[in-house]
Parts: sequence; C-alpha cells; structure tokens
Amino acid sequence: MFRDESGHRPTQKIFTEVPPKYDLLNRILTLNMDEGWRKKTAKAVLENNPSRVLDLCCGTADLTMHIAGNARKETELFGLDFSHTMLARAKEKVAVFGEGRVNLIQGDAGNMPFESNYFDAVGISFGFRNLTFENPDAQLHMKEVLRILKPGGRFVIVETSQPQNKIIRFFYHLYHNLITGPIGGLISGNRQAYNYLAHSANHYYTLDDLSILLKNAGFSETNGTPLLMGAAAIMVAEK
Ligand SMILES: C[S@@+](CC[C@H](N)C(=O)[O-])C[C@H]1O[C@@H](n2cnc3c(N)ncnc32)[C@H](O)[C@@H]1O
Repeated sequence: MFRDESGHRPTQKIFTEVPPKYDLLNRILTLNMDEGWRKKTAKAVLENNPSRVLDLCCGTADLTMHIAGNARKETELFGLDFSHTMLARAKEKVAVFGEGRVNLIQGDAGNMPFESNYFDAVGISFGFRNLTFENPDAQLHMKEVLRILKPGGRFVIVETSQPQNKIIRFFYHLYHNLITGPIGGLISGNRQAYNYLAHSANHYYTLDDLSILLKNAGFSETNGTPLLMGAAAIMVAEK
C-alpha cells in the first residue's frame, strides 16, 4: 500500500487538517446543492432495503446522516474514514440517532476491518475521487469494496464529474480554478487542500470513463445519473 515519506496515505494529511471549516465550505462551494445530492445518494443506497450499510470515507458523516435518517431501524449502519478529526465531528453529529446507532470506525479503504461479503450496500460521497484520482492504490480500493460487498450488493458513488457540453465544462473548470481553490484555501486556511480538490475535480473522470473503470475492476452493472448538467453524478455499480 502506497505511503509517502512521512508514512501517510495520499491526502491523509489534508483530510486531517480541513475539518474545522469542511462542512461550511461544502455548503458555500456547492451553493448548498451538495446536501440534496447526498439525500439522493442515500435513497439509492437504501433502495433494496439493505440489512447492513457502510458509508465509506464518511468524513464528518454528512451522507451517514441521510442514510441513518431514512434507514429501517433494523439496518446496521457503519461509517469508515482514516481521518480522526473528521470522525470526531461525525461522532458529534450521529449522536442524535442515539448511542451505538452508527458504528464509526477509523480505518483505511485499502484494508478494511470487515469480513468478505459483509455489506448489502456501500455508499461514498465525494470520497471516490480521493481513492482513485492519481492514486497508486486505486485498484486496491475498488477490490476492497468488491470484497466487502455481498454478491448483488450495490456500490453508490456521488462524485464530481465532467459536464459533456464544452462551454459548460469550460465554466465549470474556471469555477474550480477561481473559486474552489482560492476561496476554499482562504476560508479554510489550507490552500494546499483546496488546490488539490480543485485540481482533482477538474481532471476527474466523465461518467463513461467512471463506468469503464468500475467494470474493469470487476463490477457487473453500472448506472450513472448526471447532476447539475454533469458537474457531479451519482453512479450505482453492482457486484
Ligand atoms: C472529500 S471528503 C468526503 C467526506 C464525506 N463523505 C462528505 O460527503 O463530505 C473525503 C474523505 O475521504 C477520506 N479518505 C480519503 N482516502 C481515504 C482512505 N484511503 N481511507 C479512508 N478514508 C479516506 C478523507 O479522510 C475524507 O474524510
């Protein structure tokens, strides 16, 4: 598994430093649309009445909150992230559902502490880019998701994407260059983090490329839905 010279996984330092302003910046930079997208993602995660669900790269638990708010009470809920600062925020938020309702685990997506064929559904909101963009462990991460999913289980990804229309795509990239990087850097005080987010969003996959990536990794069915003219997308992939 890849680690940098200080022993960190790619982006681990960034995601340990951003939490104080992380939620606020998500709302500002997406003009509050991110929460609606997570809501739709949670609906797709819960579509087949899963018994056990993981929010992978749960961060501060924004997707977990939508899943927990809509799941049957028998559904077992888990969240996993490698950033302890993100998880500390997540813990405060999921407390509204009661002690023990959501199992939050600090762990690495490349080596998850779950048995094989354990989950009916795995959701991930704005974390798949980190696991796959210029990441030497991209294949390992997808293999791990396949391992922990039951056959027929669904992997639901909400992520930035690329608008098909060239003019919209031009303005979308401009937005990341002029707003996400500089304004995110200014408000968070972490320029490197938001430059990384802007750069990775501008160079991330189209829905078609994402589908190919997932199928090559071993997922059988993929079904993508663009959001906001393709600026983001929800992808459902089946094991
Ligand atoms: C952009 S944030 C998204 C957080 C949250 N899901 C949301 O919707 O706001 C990406 C998250 O992925 C986590 N992450 C990145 N790589 C990871 C890895 N290899 N293992 C576990 N967590 C990882 C980061 O710590 C961060 O919390």
